[in-house]
Amino acid sequence: MQKLRVELSVHSLRQPAMESVIRLFLLSLLLHSILHVKCDDEEDNLLQEINRYRATLNLTVLTKNDKAECLADEMADQFKNQPCTNSTGSNTVPGTEPRFSDFPRLLSKCHLNVTVTRDGQILPACVPGLVPGLVVSNFTKSQYSGYLNDTKYTGVGIGSENDWIVVVLTTNTPEGSFTPDNNSAKTVSEFGAISHALVLFVIFFMLQ
Ligand SMILES: *[C@@H]1O[C@H](CO)[C@@H](O)[C@H](O)[C@H]1NC(C)=O
Ligand SMILES: *[C@@H]1O[C@H](CO)[C@@H](O)[C@H](O)[C@H]1NC(C)=O
Ligand SMILES: *[C@@H]1O[C@H](CO)[C@@H](O)[C@H](O)[C@H]1NC(C)=O
Ligand SMILES: *[C@@H]1O[C@H](CO)[C@@H](O)[C@H](O)[C@H]1NC(C)=O
Ligand SMILES: *[C@@H]1O[C@H](CO)[C@@H](O)[C@H](O)[C@H]1NC(C)=O
Ligand SMILES: *[C@@H]1O[C@H](CO)[C@@H](O)[C@H](O)[C@H]1NC(C)=O
Repeated sequence: MQKLRVELSVHSLRQPAMESVIRLFLLSLLLHSILHVKCDDEEDNLLQEINRYRATLNLTVLTKNDKAECLADEMADQFKNQPCTNSTGSNTVPGTEPRFSDFPRLLSKCHLNVTVTRDGQILPACVPGLVPGLVVSNFTKSQYSGYLNDTKYTGVGIGSENDWIVVVLTTNTPEGSFTPDNNSAKTVSEFGAISHALVLFVIFFMLQ
């Protein structure tokens, strides 16, 4: 009873303009998380379908690799503003893939270097609207199937941005394991978790 009254009085003190700003902020936050979930759905679906494809060939399932996923996200971010054409993504003629000059920077952002990624494989695809069926066939029914049906790959990371979805394959050899430099990766992910918590904390107080 007491608590309710306090809340009501604080509520009435609040200025209408502030209210709508907060509401707008929360709405955009909500939209952002919904969109993000949708993106993740597409990635999960693709992973399932790739593993189903491998199962039909009696191959082991690919397990999720966090560092490969980090790199896939970074690559998707680089591709995202390029339009889909008949020579991008899985239509690329082998050997003519775009090379990003800041690839080493992307690797180091994910606490990787060429020593542990050399044997991995980066497979970008461009599908307007990331239509699920087309996304899957762009991997399983294109030149990429030659990588997906290879026994040497054991791990996978998937990232997507706009019309682009990137699959990064890893091996269980040291040269393709994507095994990060433990210490720095740990520090960063802890920092990430802390700053995320901080944002939620601030939102919580704005709501009070
Ligand atoms: C997969 O294994 C099953 C049973 O061991 C076998 O009957 C089938 O022919 C195999 N399929 C392929 C594509 O190797
Ligand atoms: C790609 O599209 C261009 C123009 O739209 C066309 O000239 C070219 O022949 C196409 N290439 C392939 C491989 O389909
Ligand atoms: C890949 O996606 C494109 C759309 O960007 C589609 O036109 C094409 O048919 C797909 N390729 C395969 C092999 O599914
Ligand atoms: C893997 O796929 C490629 C390209 O589709 C094909 O040439 C090759 O024979 C396949 N290998 C196996 C083991 O299925
Ligand atoms: C990559 O990292 C590993 C382990 O942290 C290190 O031993 C190796 O020398 C590094 N390679 C390059 C090219 O920086
Ligand atoms: C990372 O940690 C694992 C086990 O915690 C260890 O086996 C591996 O050698 C470590 N890698 C590096 C580069 O220190």
